[in-house]
Amino acid sequence: MTNVVALVPVNELKEHLDSPVELRGWLVQKRSSGKIAFLQLRDGLGVVQVVASRSDLSETSWEEVQAATQESVLRITGTVRADERSPSGVEIQASEIVIVALSEEFPISPKEHGVAFLMEHRHLWLRSTRQRAALRVRSEVCQGIRDYFYDRDYVLIDSPILTPTACEGTSTVFETDYFGDPAFLTQSGQLYLEPAAAAFGKVYCFGPTFRAEKSKTRRHLTEFWMVEPEAAFMEFPELCDFAEDFVCHLVQRVLSACRQELDVLERDVALLERIQKPFPRIRYREALELLAAEGMTVEWGKDFGAEEETLLASHFEKPVLVSHYPVETKAFYMQPDAADPTTALALDLLAPEGYGEIIGGSQRIHDYALLERRIEEHDLPREAFEWYLDVRRYGTFPHSGFGMGVERFVAWMTGVKHLRETIPYPRLLGKIYP
Ligand code: 4AD
Ligand code: MG
Repeated sequence: MTNVVALVPVNELKEHLDSPVELRGWLVQKRSSGKIAFLQLRDGLGVVQVVASRSDLSETSWEEVQAATQESVLRITGTVRADERSPSGVEIQASEIVIVALSEEFPISPKEHGVAFLMEHRHLWLRSTRQRAALRVRSEVCQGIRDYFYDRDYVLIDSPILTPTACEGTSTVFETDYFGDPAFLTQSGQLYLEPAAAAFGKVYCFGPTFRAEKSKTRRHLTEFWMVEPEAAFMEFPELCDFAEDFVCHLVQRVLSACRQELDVLERDVALLERIQKPFPRIRYREALELLAAEGMTVEWGKDFGAEEETLLASHFEKPVLVSHYPVETKAFYMQPDAADPTTALALDLLAPEGYGEIIGGSQRIHDYALLERRIEEHDLPREAFEWYLDVRRYGTFPHSGFGMGVERFVAWMTGVKHLRETIPYPRLLGKIYP
């Protein structure tokens, strides 16, 4: 009878030095020379080198080593040995190796593949080192977001995905058929958060968001995750501080929890370490001047595109907060600045290194008559917004909020150039498989 050996995940092997353990995982790579083979085994929590010596193994085990193909599932019994040269600090001296499931020839071999090919095999590409690192950072960022709001007494309000109206303009909505009537996939949960702010004071939503963006850029997904806080009685100056604090907090969290991943991704962490308060703040008017000085003329009232954002951000080492956009540039619900009502109390936070706008937010109009007028000016169907006007009818209050695109933030943290590598299954213009 064989002894029962504990099944140990790779990231806990260090606690079992010189003890027998069992491992289960996928074969990443195999190198063999005569009487010895080196197997890299991945169990999801880590990768460890397994040393298989013919002299330590039964004939059957040795045959399994020979037969094992890339991505075969193996069950390995062996002893944990300290090994200073390995990144995990340990390796396994195998005593038994069993193929649990032999893999067919894996499409993604260690050689280089084109992006189109990798995207077609996204479900398998997830197993590769860089993809695993980027998505672990994403997971940490999402947890950091939840913790940040939980620790500050924000209540999670899940906003609906199917909605009767567009929130951020009608040019980028996905329309669906809702029992014979049109319905739209949500572009933002904001309109649904505002009533909830009257119920709970501080609320946030965090979920998938849809934009039928016709632009094929590295910064646009058609389905992305957005986190949106909304707070009663928060006015614009406080909103700016809040967005800044939120971003600094998340950057710190990534720096302290994801060192290994950032290493794998070869991210220059010095660039992230300097992301500290305060951030530079400029108004739209000053942004136009900065751009003009670089030979890029933008007409008053035009929103910035990727090119303008990149040029603006290149002046700063930290995210730059751009505010006071002309009212006609932005959404209908934004509060005009009392000192200059032609501008809105709106902010965009532009990340450094060309990662573009990561946050967009504003103070909201809380005056009933003004909001009513804006709905009219924007040619929006009044009936569809009655419920939204109710927030201003029944105990109105100043309030503010913002939205942050998780993939944009993760791209910046990881240094990944294209948003497609920051979400497990990217949805892009003309791309919905797998
Ligand atoms: O600036 P946006 O459109 O703001 C809103 O939707 C507001 N209702 C949010 C609010 O105030 N509650 O989008 C917010 C953020 C952007 O700054 C960007 O990070 C991200 O969402 N985003 C996208 N990310 C990936 N792909 C796209 N197509 C994106 N569009 C916006
Ligand atoms: Mg925006």
